[in-house]
Amino acid sequence: MLSLVVLVSGQGSNLRSLLTASEDAEFPARVVAVGSDRDDAGGLAVAEEFGIPTFTVAFSSFDDRAEWGDAMLEQITQWQPDLVILSGFMRLFPPRVVDALSPNMINTHPAFLPEFPGAHGVRDALAAGVEQTGASVIVVDNGVDSGPIIARERVPVVPGDTESSLHDRIKIVERRLLIQAVLDIANAHIDLKELATA
Ligand code: GAR
Repeated sequence: MLSLVVLVSGQGSNLRSLLTASEDAEFPARVVAVGSDRDDAGGLAVAEEFGIPTFTVAFSSFDDRAEWGDAMLEQITQWQPDLVILSGFMRLFPPRVVDALSPNMINTHPAFLPEFPGAHGVRDALAAGVEQTGASVIVVDNGVDSGPIIARERVPVVPGDTESSLHDRIKIVERRLLIQAVLDIANAHIDLKELATA
């Protein structure tokens, strides 16, 4: 059984779908804790609804990113997770944290990476006027959404799309890719170490 720590900054709809999937006794992974960089993240309430322990290490309480990262790492490692999932976690970790957790830390992103990395993947795709964007799951490295790609899929942009309508459609694909990635990692169909060193 793969143990997971999931980190969120937002509403946690992808977290909800992962927690729902893991209610199935056959699902080979369990979320042991959910953490956030902000105490008002809706994802924390989602975790509580499912009876999952939560922790918050507020970015605003620290003088610099390195100190915040160390505090975050301490909280994460307490749970001894096999895998850390960034699911709408909107902060970059300092290198010390990435190096400590790599390659067992993955991230979901609402674009077909390496297209449109960063905090506004959906908005940037709309602004670029592309006909299709996508969803990706990657291994976290020290760049911005630049790690090895585990899975990605195209999502069409349709006339009249707003950032919100497009993001909602992307998230449907993202959730499926994330759950499949967790299954593949748990069943050793994907070797993160191999991916990260390829
Ligand atoms: C997801 O689309 C995730 O890929 C994105 O935030 C959303 C979180 O939604 N993450 C990023 O943009 C990271 N660069 P949720 O809180 O409803 O799961």
